[in-house]
Amino acid sequence: MIFVDACFGKQTPYTPVWMMRQAGRYLPEYMAVRAEAGSFLDLCHNPPLAAEVTLQPVDIVGVDAAILFSDILVVPNEMGMKLDFVAGEGPVFADPITSKADIDALLGGKEAAERLTYVYDTIRLIRSSLSSDKALIGFTGAPWTLATYMIEGQGTKTYNVVKKLIYTDPELMHSLLAKVTEVVKYYLEMQIQAGADVVQIFDSWAAALEKSKYFEFSWNYMKEIAGYIKAKYPHIPIIMFPKGIAGYLDDIDGDFDVFGVDWSTPMALAKEKLGDRYVLQGNMEPCRLYSKEATKECVASIAQTMKDGRHIFNLGHGILPDVPVENAQYFVKLCQELSRRD
Ligand code: CP3
Repeated sequence: MIFVDACFGKQTPYTPVWMMRQAGRYLPEYMAVRAEAGSFLDLCHNPPLAAEVTLQPVDIVGVDAAILFSDILVVPNEMGMKLDFVAGEGPVFADPITSKADIDALLGGKEAAERLTYVYDTIRLIRSSLSSDKALIGFTGAPWTLATYMIEGQGTKTYNVVKKLIYTDPELMHSLLAKVTEVVKYYLEMQIQAGADVVQIFDSWAAALEKSKYFEFSWNYMKEIAGYIKAKYPHIPIIMFPKGIAGYLDDIDGDFDVFGVDWSTPMALAKEKLGDRYVLQGNMEPCRLYSKEATKECVASIAQTMKDGRHIFNLGHGILPDVPVENAQYFVKLCQELSRRD
């Protein structure tokens, strides 16, 4: 698999490409299946339909890897938190975590991970129809990003509820993070056993924390998960995606293979700080997809920066719902063509 080879820094005929949020609302075919499924969570819970939308961008856009269709928040949901996706507002947990008792009441460890059967069933279905030269990426949210949702109850601009906890009761925050970390280790392991070829850890809210707190409350837990998976499954590449921490790259270390560079971090900076230790993934600003001209300029620049480096093309965050499909196809083809080595 060209994608897995590239994750391990091997020479490949061209640099493989995928897009975060590639299975989603910019595809009319996704909207049709979504309408058939009911709610977004109904779709996540329906393995045949979730497998179908996972495969759509491979067929329609030509990406080199599929990413499991699910959501990071199914984990806290199966730990016992009621989850709703409210139209126009995003995900909402009606009863956020506020106390030690709330944390104790959550289901933990293997028991929680075993409840995500619909995810493993979806992976098995995808792997049985995905071409053998294309990789299937499994994923999880980082404990910090998951815990932020569990405490704030929804998306936040200020992170004041979770940050209040960090500065006033760090032990309580650590006990929640440790519990989520345990579940996530088993969750990724079970995704791999079901057929995931690669796993990515999304830390979407990384940039909310000052440097020392970032390493204490997020990166250390991500590293613990990566170390656990690497020790047991060394042939499975691990991608870490902490969004928005360009200023912290000097202290990034750990047992993983690929570092996902977000669009706010210059690729040349990531290469200088991490390029000799990790394969780099990314990092076109997703809004460039509104213009083919802007896309071309950026892909050429990234290809130039990474021409002698180990690299996987991607956006620097998720594709937005109003991007023309044609432009996504253009981006993928351009990445594959500009990087061709044979
Ligand atoms: O294609 C893929 O990347 C795979 C599927 C995937 C989804 N969510 C589908 C989805 C993945 C990998 C995620 C991860 C995810 N979910 C993250 C981390 C990545 C990131 O973007 O930073 C986060 C923070 C979430 C939480 C989440 N899920 C939010 C904030 C929202 C609503 C915001 C929005 O875009 O509307 C979701 C819903 C969601 N997850 C949708 C999809 C396709 C849209 C739901 C719909 O169909 O109505």
